[in-house]
Parts: sequence; structure tokens; C-alpha cells
Amino acid sequence: PDTTTPRAAGADFVVVANRLPVDLERLPDGTTRWKRSPGGLVTALESVLRNNNGAWVGWPGVPDVDVDPIIEDGLELHPVPLSADDVANYYEGFSNGTLWPLYHDVIVRPEYHRHWWQAYVDVNRRFAEHTAKVAAQNATVWVQDYQLQLVPKMLRMLRPDLTIGFFLHIPFPPVELFMQMPWRTEIVEGLLGADLIGFHLPGGAQNFLFLARRLAGQPTSRGNVGVRSKLGVVQVGFRTVRVGAFPISIASAEMDEASRRRSVRERAAQIRAELGNPKHILLGVDRLDYTKGIDIRLRALEELLETGEIDPKETVMVQLATPSRERVDSYVQMRSDIERQVGRINGEFSRVGYPFVHYLHRPIPRDELIAFFVAADVMLVTPLRDGMNLVAKEYVACHSGLNGALVLSEFTGAAAELRQAYQCNPHDLTSVKEAIMQSIADDADTRRRRMRSMRRQVLAHDVDRWARSFLDALAKGKVAGPALMSD
Ligand code: ADP
Ligand code: G6P
Repeated sequence: PDTTTPRAAGADFVVVANRLPVDLERLPDGTTRWKRSPGGLVTALESVLRNNNGAWVGWPGVPDVDVDPIIEDGLELHPVPLSADDVANYYEGFSNGTLWPLYHDVIVRPEYHRHWWQAYVDVNRRFAEHTAKVAAQNATVWVQDYQLQLVPKMLRMLRPDLTIGFFLHIPFPPVELFMQMPWRTEIVEGLLGADLIGFHLPGGAQNFLFLARRLAGQPTSRGNVGVRSKLGVVQVGFRTVRVGAFPISIASAEMDEASRRRSVRERAAQIRAELGNPKHILLGVDRLDYTKGIDIRLRALEELLETGEIDPKETVMVQLATPSRERVDSYVQMRSDIERQVGRINGEFSRVGYPFVHYLHRPIPRDELIAFFVAADVMLVTPLRDGMNLVAKEYVACHSGLNGALVLSEFTGAAAELRQAYQCNPHDLTSVKEAIMQSIADDADTRRRRMRSMRRQVLAHDVDRWARSFLDALAKGKVAGPALMSD
């Protein structure tokens, strides 16, 4: 078969996401190359799509480039170009200055600007038009995340033959917060263009059902939504839209396998040696984002150092932080706050050649990252709010030896599944400090028991199961639902 041009009849399975799984990178000499895109969405979907022979529609990550579709390992990538204005207003503006903070419990104040909204509508329309051209007759299209909430309805108007799924990778907010949104009805109606709308948690699905009644005036089911079961239903004219909870996961077996490799083990031992063979290695791995609570874990550690509960001669902290959304004001501010905090802690508590905090502001290659997970005695995952948090699951998958402990914020989706983590409330510094100290102090047996139970969860519920459960529910969408009620 021809592997250089897209199938003329279109693709039977299409993923639509703001980003392609690879970003185009411009090198100083003017040439370009592709590199992997950041974030959990790409981590999760890439492995699903490679096994499904599908097409992916998305932005190549830099403004003002118009590149041809590329085919890589049977996966068709269809770039949607964005201008510099689109990036400023649709991506940095409405997606990351309005929706991201609103959906993450207004940790930062969302800004509502009409010209950002207009750009969001325009770009969503272009994604819908592009997808309409790529999808084969009766294809299944899976739209991803908060950047594209209007695409389901727009695409349905262009292509009523398609089966359309939508999955939200971030939290769906409480109703009281969502009601701030000036274009709240348009967003709910945009999502209702899908046949199946997926959230990580039942709570998000239930919030959405309430809003479908309240804002779109559609009758819905009332019972509780289950995890991968008991879907909710919204009746939109003759169409039945289903709503469910599908917690996302990782390629657990691959991660487990990679973490057992000799080369990775050796690198992990080498990392420990390079850090001065400390008794405890604490690790944070995040996109540099204000939702992640990097400042909170640093503050907790600073207090523990001040009281002497943590001894910098035997403990080190490694924080790996991928640059993210670097032109959005709140990110610029947060980066400088965190770097000041790192500087202050190191100024107070380091010795020459032995910093307490090792801070790397760059993406880390996959195998190197796995070696860090293997090397870490305690993983610190302390977001103020996170849809799921894949890092927590990756750490668990890398600890087949049952050593290692996970400190996990209750405000992550992962906390609903990883009940045996050392859970903490990131709004309560005492709770974060206690979780850290407990994770260090517990005996090996306790830590093993907790890790074993978390591993059972993560290995049994991997990303393929997530995708399968969503896509199966989407395919079976035509069955009758429960009784409906209107407000
Ligand atoms: P988010 O999607 O908000 O970024 P997740 O924890 O769900 O958060 O997913 C983040 C993904 O990015 C994980 O697969 C993680 O391994 C990867 N990642 C995060 N930080 C880094 C880093 N510094 N270097 C390489 N990969 C990283
Ligand atoms: C989160 C979002 C994704 C996003 C990723 C990286 O995982 O849910 O939609 O792609 O962060 O953010 P970025 O803005 O760089 O795409």
C-alpha cells in the first residue's frame, strides 16, 4: 500500500485534538523537525491510535505553518494551521486563560474576553471542517478535550453520518463555577453534538447532566453515573446522547517492562550516585503549571527542613518540570515564583556540590524519566486540581520491586483509584507535611503492601482498557436508555 498519501476514501477512525502527537520545531538554522508534544493527552492517545490505524487531526504546535499531511507507522497526521492571532486568542486566550482556570476550580482567575471567544468559535469551526474532509462515510470521530468543545455540534451539522465521541481530559467544574461562563449554553450545546460524552469521574458527568437540563433545556436521566457503567442519557430531539465516566490511564505493561530493563536499572543507580547516594530521593514530575502544586510541595519541604524533620544531608528533592504555555501571564508569574522558591531553599539548606533541590526546566527523554521514577523513594504529586494525573500512575507502574511511596493529592482524578497512596489535602500544608513524613517513616512492609495494591489497580486498568470501554460504549450507543426527566 501507498504509505505517503492519505487514504482517498477517508479514514474510518479519526482523533481530533488541539495538538498533534508531535510538534514541529524550528531549529536556529531555519530547518524544521518533529518532536513529541507535551502532556497526558498525547501520552494516552498515541498508543491507542497506533494500534487502530487511524488518522489524527491537530495543530502542529507552532503558528503560521501550513504543512502537508504526514504518515508515520500507519498513522495519518493531518495538520490544522493556526495563525499567530489564533494562537494568542484561541489557544493562549480562551483555552488557557479562560477554560483551563475555570475548569480547575479558578485557582487563577479566568478572564472572559469576547474576542477570545470569537477566535475559539472560528478555530473550532476550522477543526470541524478539516475533520469533515478527513473522515470516511460513517466513520467514528473522537474529539478530545476543552480546546474543542464546539466541534461535536459543528461536525454533526456538516456530517450527520458520523458517530461522534467526545472526551474531556480535565475536570468538569462544579455547576456554580461553570455558570460564570458567559457562553455557557453554547458550550453545553456544542458538546451535545456528540453521541457519547466522557469524563474522568462520575461527578463531572453528573455536573454536565444537570447543566444539560438547566441550560440546554433537554430531558436527562437522573440516577447516579457509574465508573465505566450506568451511563447518563440526554434526549436531544430524536437523538440520544450518552454521558459517562471513563478514568484514563497509561500503557501500564509497557512502563512496567521498561522499568525492569537492565539499562534503566543501571541508570537509576547512577542517578542515585550522582545525587550523592542520599538515603531518600523525593521526586516531582510535572508540566510547569499552577494546577500542579509544585509550590506547595516546596513549601512543605522548606518547613520540614526548617524544623529539622528532614535532614538535607540524607534527603534530596528532584523536580523535573516541562516548560508549558510560556506566553500566558499566569505561567510566567508562576515560573518565577517557583524558581525563587528553589533558590531560597537551596540558599538556606544546600552544601557546596549538594543542592537540596535539583530543578530541571526541560522535557526529559522517556527512558531517562523512567530511570528517575525507578530511583525515587517518594513521588510527590500534589496538584490543587487535576483531571487524572498520569504521573502518579507511571510511578506506580515503575515499582515492580514494591519499594517506593506515592504522596498524592486528594484533588486528582487518580486519588479515586489509588486509595493506598499517602493522600493529602494540598490546601492544608500540615496534611502535606504529614503525608511526606509518613511515607518516609513507614516500614518496608507497609510501603510494600500499599504499592502492591496500587499496582494491581494500575496494571489491570490500562489505557487500552480506557479506550476500549469508551469506544465500545460509543459503538453500542443506539440502545434504549433509562427514563428521562426535565427540570
Ligand atoms: P498533564 O496532562 O496535565 O501534563 P499528566 O500527569 O496527566 O499531566 O501527564 C503528563 C505527561 O507528561 C506524563 O506522561 C508525564 O510522564 C509527562 N511529563 C511530565 N513532565 C515531564 C518531564 N519533565 N519530562 C518528560 N515528560 C514529562
Ligand atoms: C493537558 C491537556 C491537554 C494538553 C496538555 C499539554 O494534558 O489536557 O489537552 O495538550 O495538557 O498542554 P498544551 O497546552 O501544551 O497542549
